[in-house]
Amino acid sequence: MLLVQLSDIHVGSQFQESVFEKVISEVNELKPDAILISGDLTNEGLIKEYEKCKKLVSRFNCKKIITISGNHDYRNSGYLVFKKFFPFETINKLSSDIVLVTVGTARPDRNEGEVGYRQNLWIERTMQKYKDSVKILAMHHHLVGIPDTGSDRVTVIDAGDVLRTILATNVELVLCGHKHRPWIWNFKNLAIVNAGTAASDRSRGLFENSYNIITIEDKKIQVDLKIVGGKRTSLEDIVKNYARFGEE
Ligand SMILES: [Fe+2]
Ligand SMILES: [Fe+2]
Repeated sequence: MLLVQLSDIHVGSQFQESVFEKVISEVNELKPDAILISGDLTNEGLIKEYEKCKKLVSRFNCKKIITISGNHDYRNSGYLVFKKFFPFETINKLSSDIVLVTVGTARPDRNEGEVGYRQNLWIERTMQKYKDSVKILAMHHHLVGIPDTGSDRVTVIDAGDVLRTILATNVELVLCGHKHRPWIWNFKNLAIVNAGTAASDRSRGLFENSYNIITIEDKKIQVDLKIVGGKRTSLEDIVKNYARFGEE
């Protein structure tokens, strides 16, 4: 099972059309079973941005395209528009033994994310139904902070409650976006993965536009980072080759 995670396209003023053209052709060549777009599809949540984004996304040759809204999509009451352009299922069976569950963390006119008491209970009940499957939880905001992103307060504000649910229900993989910075936290039986920005010009530092390629075979998960127009490498290499600023 091949899953591509694209994130933070930001169709609007931060969008780079030529980069996204490359993304479309590269991803179509991979012939993924599913594509996850983990939020910030638009820059300002405007109808004209949604229209353009919809046209671009329809060029992916993939039957299963799963979308989540991000804080930018919620701007200007964009949440009223998102569902019309990108209707989505929250529970997605990617194969007989892989399930991907999405949860909305964006809130109107707020940048930080939240899961909340009811949604957290829902995650717990849902994941319990898929005991024997590989369980993936996808959300826009990052659940755990990422190096080099400062004293970050724009995260999932109830991350502790969500992490407890994730561990209690044996979720194997969490997919996040929002920070425009690829990273992987590898814990014992849980990996928390962040995608970079696929097409916006707000990439961080020396990072280029990128997306993630996730392969799951016999319940084994491999996450690769693909630089748009560049090389493919294991996302773990980013962590292994990490150098603190001033210590490179
Ligand atoms: Fe973003
Ligand atoms: Fe965001």
